[in-house]
Amino acid sequence: MKTITLTTDHATYQMGVTDAGRLLHTYFGPRVPDDMGYAIASPDRPFSGNPADGLDLAFSLDVLPLEYPTYGVGDYRRAALDVRTADGTDGCDLRVVSWDQHEGKYALDGLPAVHAAAADASTLEVKLADELIGLEVTLRYGVIPGLDAICRSATVTNVGTEPLVVSRALSASLDLVGGPYDLITFPGRYGMERIPERSAVGHALASVGSIRGASSHQANPFAILAEHGCDEDHGTCWSMSFLYSGNFTCEAQQDQFGMTRWAMGLSDQMFEYPLAPGESLVCPEVAMAFSADGLAHLSHLNHRLVREHVCRGPWALRRRPVLINNWEATGFDFTGEKIYDIAREAADLGIEMVVLDDGWFGARDGDRAGLGDWVVNEGKLGGTLGELSRRIEGLGMGFGLWIEPEMVNEDSDLYRAHPDWALTVPGREPIRGRNQLVLDFSRPEVVDAVFEAICKVVDAAHVSYLKMDCNRSMADVYSHAVVHQSFGKTMYRFVLGTYSFLERLIERYPQMLIEGCCGGGGRFDAGMMYYTPQVWCSDDTDAIERVRIQGGTSYGYPASAVGSHVSAVPNAQIGRSVDLETRGVVAMSGTFGYELDPARLTDAECDVVRRQVVDYKRLWPLIAEGDYYRLGAQDGHGDFAAWGFVSPDAGQALLDVVSLDARCNAPVSYVRCKGLDPAVVYSLELLCGEGGGQAMPTELSGAALMACGVPVPQVPGEYHAWQWVLSARG
Ligand code: DGJ
Repeated sequence: MKTITLTTDHATYQMGVTDAGRLLHTYFGPRVPDDMGYAIASPDRPFSGNPADGLDLAFSLDVLPLEYPTYGVGDYRRAALDVRTADGTDGCDLRVVSWDQHEGKYALDGLPAVHAAAADASTLEVKLADELIGLEVTLRYGVIPGLDAICRSATVTNVGTEPLVVSRALSASLDLVGGPYDLITFPGRYGMERIPERSAVGHALASVGSIRGASSHQANPFAILAEHGCDEDHGTCWSMSFLYSGNFTCEAQQDQFGMTRWAMGLSDQMFEYPLAPGESLVCPEVAMAFSADGLAHLSHLNHRLVREHVCRGPWALRRRPVLINNWEATGFDFTGEKIYDIAREAADLGIEMVVLDDGWFGARDGDRAGLGDWVVNEGKLGGTLGELSRRIEGLGMGFGLWIEPEMVNEDSDLYRAHPDWALTVPGREPIRGRNQLVLDFSRPEVVDAVFEAICKVVDAAHVSYLKMDCNRSMADVYSHAVVHQSFGKTMYRFVLGTYSFLERLIERYPQMLIEGCCGGGGRFDAGMMYYTPQVWCSDDTDAIERVRIQGGTSYGYPASAVGSHVSAVPNAQIGRSVDLETRGVVAMSGTFGYELDPARLTDAECDVVRRQVVDYKRLWPLIAEGDYYRLGAQDGHGDFAAWGFVSPDAGQALLDVVSLDARCNAPVSYVRCKGLDPAVVYSLELLCGEGGGQAMPTELSGAALMACGVPVPQVPGEYHAWQWVLSARG
């Protein structure tokens, strides 16, 4: 057997190629110098198919760890690939044809992919073929050694003369010996996205995914496989992050001998992707990372991966403007003058940008009409958008605009002119979501038309920021442009259409900051972050709910990508009132902003906002580049929630604490810091929060801060916040 080895700073990823060209997966774990093929035992196993490779009964792909398993070769576990021939036969038998490794990280045409400087990454391509059915598969591996990351993608090509149908094509499949393992996924719902859920991987198939057209609020295309007992600071764990914003699946299952198969890729539900001779299907990229030091380190790797190797453009690493968005303050009910007033008040508080949300176009005074008509409602604004944006710029602020390009109301000029541009099944009443239909973005002419209309608006005004929303799940997946419908193909091409829209926006407006959004966090994935370096995290802006949402989000995504704002109280979503200081502390662990009417703030609150804006600007390097630590109860079930950021040299840290339920005669809780230098003395600067009578020293060693920690001040009431900056003493 020949071996193919990929090496990162702390990990080894290894494959074996048998004499007959079978591609085995021999290892992914802590760095080792060996040929790990020795560990692959293959005794004779009854009821496990034996391929005719000239070997004995002990050779069965049903029991071996495989690199890209297919149906049809005697492996009865979940395949990564299944292909059907024109006569309806399922299965394929892939053999390695060649492989090649070179400097630099591959890119994927029309799809997001991790990027890196040529010297910081390498690419391995393994070509496999099934000559009988005319199928070629290229497995791509992008290696980022400094981040212990291996990225994977597969291209499936019909090189024969007969049509093929791909019924399942995942991007990455990992067979791991050892274990037992836990799968950590991030399910949720609208308004409560990405809440970690951990369960042991057993023989029952564990599977999460989306068939909603977007990656969804309900499931997230990021998952972790961890050894039992792996915690924040210890243990072996791996992550998979799918750089794709549409339907996906993530599956894990133990086989009969306890080996775990873990896979991620395009959802195979109703997939059926036809491949005519010469056609290919590119399976989007899965970025995997490995940590032998627990979940916190795995998160740090993913944060750097997204921030430095997924996000692109001038805003990827730059501090984002502190913005104010009018949505929670006004809904659809605003005038140009009201927006200007918000801007004027906000400018006085140090806020840097105004974002005009939904309702500025067409007959859009509610959610029943106007969507799709990207023509400024000058009557409502009392002038042109250019006039409004220039007035706002006159206040020294930037101007941003909300769009929802993939959607249409039936009550719109666009729909009246082009009813066939919406996804609807002929003869059926369509499923509506928020009173709207989904435009067929699998059709380039539809994308073109919407793009041109939106650009016309943007060109005529001074717009430096776009918030791109998407407010319903897809249904009625019928494209009026094709005769033979394919759910999988239309859904996939829809996502490609969305990506092409975004890519063209970026090309045309290279300085534009684009924020992704999907009814809050319904499309919060690394695929979107390739185009939009920040994504609105959730429509739930209650600070205490956000502690949970942002805590869950932190496993896979950096704070610099988390759209989070301070909103008014009582909170519009849940009616809770939380102190402005607490709302600020929570919102600062993301791209900071406000979502309220500043005219309603008291003078004292205005002073708090002014200070928050200044603090945020100062803290940005720590928040964006620091290592993020989960320090307690971000699931919302405890006396306090705490998290922190530590600068890469451990010279500075930010410690955020929020008290949760108030209790009578409660014991003292301690927040133990992480990631500090034990030998360094840190000065403690309390940015906000009352001491509760507890006198804290102004200096403490990293050793004390990590061993004992900071006692959470006991202040009557709930939902108080404290924010400390720790700075290494001279
Ligand atoms: C859903 C978004 O998440 C909100 O922030 C807001 O933009 C509304 N859509 C507007 O319709």
